[in-house]
Amino acid sequence: MTAQRIYLDYNASTPIDPAVAAAMKPFLDDHYGNPSSGHWAAATAKAALETARGQVAALLGCQSDEIVFTSGGSEANNLALKGVFFTLRDKGNHIITTQIEHPAIIEPCRFLERLGARVTYLPVDGTGRIDPDDLRRAITPRTILVSIMQANNEVGTVQPIEDCAWMAHEHGVLFHTDAAQSVGKIPTGVNELGVDLLSIAGHKVYAPKGVGALFVRRGISLEPLIHGAGHESGRRAGTESALLAVGLGKACELAHDLAPMDRIRALRDHFWQSLQKKFGNRVTINGHPTHRLPNSLNVSFVGQIGAEILERLEGVAASTGSACHSGRIELSPVLKAMSIAPEVGMGAVRFSLGRTTTRDEIDTVIERLANILATV
Ligand SMILES: Cc1ncc(COP(=O)(O)O)c(C=O)c1O
Repeated sequence: MTAQRIYLDYNASTPIDPAVAAAMKPFLDDHYGNPSSGHWAAATAKAALETARGQVAALLGCQSDEIVFTSGGSEANNLALKGVFFTLRDKGNHIITTQIEHPAIIEPCRFLERLGARVTYLPVDGTGRIDPDDLRRAITPRTILVSIMQANNEVGTVQPIEDCAWMAHEHGVLFHTDAAQSVGKIPTGVNELGVDLLSIAGHKVYAPKGVGALFVRRGISLEPLIHGAGHESGRRAGTESALLAVGLGKACELAHDLAPMDRIRALRDHFWQSLQKKFGNRVTINGHPTHRLPNSLNVSFVGQIGAEILERLEGVAASTGSACHSGRIELSPVLKAMSIAPEVGMGAVRFSLGRTTTRDEIDTVIERLANILATV
């Protein structure tokens, strides 16, 4: 008998919302025109592209002309980091980020280091939070950009973005946040956060893979990553995909309503409480107890190996906090930066819940975990 399939990996990717798929369908079937053309076949695509831009802008509380469509979160992050570096390198070469960023921030930073950038990677505490005082101390007259993720993909910890952005601005430094994980889960208004640049990724918010956006505050110019014709107001060359933009736009319209997160948070809390009841101090939480995404539950089964647990939880899609490198199991850089002890961190499993998660599914996973761990 095959095990019931249960998807608890929404931080890795979300399914496409049926309303998003329905909005995209006419652009698969009929509206193939190039949005930049001047004839009838372009009109619908062009109008839809701009409507979608408005929907993304409405979610972030900004103007439409502050949204640049990209191929996803990675490209948005690359455009923010490299775009600022290439534009402001005469002013300074120092970038500040954190040790727990997604590789889509860490790797562009490493690349820019090879081109002469100096990058400070701020440490985090045991819950994955940075200390804004560390940021204050790190800023120098050569600092051109601070990039701190709003919420971490592995442990869900949410950073004090408002304080950090304010601090950067006090020193005349631009502030970027990677909001790939936070959009649609917690408020992400760019003016409330006080950020200059913000990245989003479609496939984390019930839109398709291969689309994202970067918010670029009016007045900030960025050297493009992709040079070519003048698409996206000269900020990202390449014929725009109305199909994908419409998907992201609709997803952002749906994400406006954070009320469904209350149900997801309640389910997540039920999950954690049940784990505690079953396993007591054999299970610990990774991440901040309150400053945390409402859908994320990263737990360590102490003394166990997360990957082995997941292997035995047949049919359950979730992630581990460790990776196997050349036959050795290593803690993820995020858990390492949080100074999680290896015997705890090796047992980490990330469960991330979403719109279609049910209480039944959670209860099934708890029962199966109890069976698995009773036999080890
Ligand atoms: C925090 C964060 N930033 C960026 C990305 C990359 O986004 P994309 O897969 O759309 O390139 C991800 C995806 O896992 C993420 O979790």
